[in-house]
Amino acid sequence: KITPVILCGGSGTRLWPRSRVTKPKPFLPLVGDNTLFEATVLRCADPGHFAAPIVVTGAKYAGYVEGQLGSGSDATVIVEPAARNTAAAIACAALRLPADAIMLVCPSDHHIAGSEVFRQAALAAAALAADDWLVSIAIEAKAPETGFGYLQRGARIADRGYRVDRFVEKPDLERAKGFLASGDYYWNGGIFAFRAGLFLEELTRHRPALAAAARAAMEAGHADGRRFHPDPEQFARIESESVDYAVMENTARAAMVPADMGWSDIGNWQALHAARGRDERGNHATGRAELVDCRNVLVDTDGPRVSVIGLDDVIVIVDQGEILVTSAKRAQEVGKLSGAVNQ
Ligand code: GDD
Ligand code: MG
Repeated sequence: KITPVILCGGSGTRLWPRSRVTKPKPFLPLVGDNTLFEATVLRCADPGHFAAPIVVTGAKYAGYVEGQLGSGSDATVIVEPAARNTAAAIACAALRLPADAIMLVCPSDHHIAGSEVFRQAALAAAALAADDWLVSIAIEAKAPETGFGYLQRGARIADRGYRVDRFVEKPDLERAKGFLASGDYYWNGGIFAFRAGLFLEELTRHRPALAAAARAAMEAGHADGRRFHPDPEQFARIESESVDYAVMENTARAAMVPADMGWSDIGNWQALHAARGRDERGNHATGRAELVDCRNVLVDTDGPRVSVIGLDDVIVIVDQGEILVTSAKRAQEVGKLSGAVNQ
């Protein structure tokens, strides 16, 4: 069975004012009725294929995680005493598993519209991982995004799997445009299937100090009910680096399974508008709103009525007394607003 390893690193600032330090993005029902975290857990809840998940999260989010897992859950929660990025988080989960266990690493702040497509891709990725590949579920690149990792598709190695000839994390805009134009690059979706033992071997090969520090933190840690606490002193010594830079850019065993599953990392309000769907004029409203002669307008209000006349490509968000109004194309700048920075 596959063990889901769910990463909950906390909040961005680009979905302010809805997402805040006190109610971070994974724990909000941004698309549909479930929160992004709940939806992530549910996607991997099929007991025929998946074991109980391991959730890796920071101390300040453990309460949210456990609340949303519910009392019936048999998940393990690894509580990080400090944030040390994804290489460490994944290593801690791998160190709790037998070497032969297959882990499916899932970020908890993404939206995936096609659960069944996801499930099939995850099973194909897990099968490749069992053959000692470090597998990313790959997304067709649609724009020269600089916030993503890029995978160059190589030779076919399975029905649905390809070798990754090159992994480039967060290229600059020029390179990203080149990758897009070449047609053989995909986005890394941040969803990985690894055999726990191979992941630790590859981490040790490419980042020996990071791997040793994570091992020391877990060895000196302790369990408390379903929580596991790595040792804070040892944990503080772990180098902070993402799995993409630490392992995926360096390994010779990278592979990919492409999947067209309606994936979005919901990086800003414009992306959320796309994930929520649009009416025939491109509008979407959550809460009380009246839109007259508007196109491509997103309104989301937690109370006050929002009325808009004759505007195109605008986003209006009302949350607990804070109001955001932005043009859709500048939605990625929301994180720089003083309200978002000083929340
Ligand atoms: N537990 C834990 N601890 N989780 C963490 C930590 C940490 O210290 N840091 C980040 N995470 C979680 C985040 O909450 C998120 O769910 C996931 O790990 C990825 O981290 P991000 O910080 O969101 O990474 P990114 O978006 O810049 O880039 C990654 O995701 C892209 C796709 O969305 C990379 O994998 C890129 O290559 C990829 O394209
Ligand atoms: Mg992200």
